[in-house]
Amino acid sequence: MPFLLIRQDITKMQVDAIVNAANTSLLGGGGVDGAIHRAAGPRLLAKCMTLSGCKTGNAKITPGYNLPAKHIIHTVGPVYHDGQRGEPILLASCYSTSLRLAKEAGCETVAFPLISAGVYGYPRADAIRIAAETIRAFLTEHDDAMTVYLVIFDRDSMDAGRAQFPDIASYIDDRYADDHADTVSQRLIRANAAKAPQSKQKAPKKESAPNGSFAPMAPMAEYAARTEPIFVSDAMASLEDRLANPDESFSEMLLRKIDEAGMTDAQCYKKANIDRKLFSKIRSDRDYRPSKQTVLAFAIALQMPLDEVRDMLGRAGFALSHANKFDIIVEYFIEQENYDVFAINEALFAFDQTLLGA
Ligand code: APR
Repeated sequence: MPFLLIRQDITKMQVDAIVNAANTSLLGGGGVDGAIHRAAGPRLLAKCMTLSGCKTGNAKITPGYNLPAKHIIHTVGPVYHDGQRGEPILLASCYSTSLRLAKEAGCETVAFPLISAGVYGYPRADAIRIAAETIRAFLTEHDDAMTVYLVIFDRDSMDAGRAQFPDIASYIDDRYADDHADTVSQRLIRANAAKAPQSKQKAPKKESAPNGSFAPMAPMAEYAARTEPIFVSDAMASLEDRLANPDESFSEMLLRKIDEAGMTDAQCYKKANIDRKLFSKIRSDRDYRPSKQTVLAFAIALQMPLDEVRDMLGRAGFALSHANKFDIIVEYFIEQENYDVFAINEALFAFDQTLLGA
């Protein structure tokens, strides 16, 4: 189910199928077409010569030969003129037709380059948007475990992605407390504090705690070294009580929120871009410790307001931090009440961050 944006050389990807941005002859060329033919070896050209070409918007499949990928799906993108000559529909057709072929071939992992965004001149930001919309529509419609990668190969495409989110860039600048924000004096103060001799801890008074109040906590070694029994106070009893009645855990809160949202488990974890296996681990273990990205992916899928997101993060041992661009971007989307995981991932990708539900 996941759809992920990555930076990679597609010829090196160990997936079931990579997609080639070919031309109608299918006899090779420059760009990613040339890279794939070089990496696959001469048997690919020999095979393509038997295919009698391919129409724009259509796709044909061959073996991967010397590539780590099992199959190559050759599709022909439109040459971009002005966007008014059917280019968007033809480009979308490249993705949907290739995905149908991949499904028929039983592929579980498929990697696309940014079709038509090179020699064929498609504006990168539009090419990314059409690719993402078509891929997510296919994945939503087909209930299978396919993982689709959209490979962004060059820096310009990355920048095109970032240019789509200028408001996030300023949101980050307002909140991003990075190392450079420290002035020199602040650094010196911190460095000196680190060198200051550790103040010797005073051992607590020996007598047992009066009327059940709790003696000041000594380092555990002090208690361990004592010979007389440690006075068990009410506080110890209430500590035991707390341990016996812990707060709601992350997984308990997640399952409650899924019920409250009237969703099924499958609807929720698919919307969060999380795979089935991980969800069943969370469901079966009340103390399961998820990653921060996983908690946020579910919070987004459940469209939780910021205070509840903070609460659920806290139960998993995390907090949102303004020293972390990932957190700032996710917080931005929650504040905008935009819970579209794919849109958030596109923004995270544009700012070189890990993705939700990856
Ligand atoms: N891995 C992943 N992506 C790559 C790689 C690679 N090794 N090499 C290039 N790309 C990216 C480019 O950066 C671009 O974003 O693939 C995208 C598509 O660019 P092109 O390969 O130029 O394809 P396209 O724009 O569809 O033009 C197709 O170019 O190579 C010829 O024979 C091909 O005539 C056809 C035309």
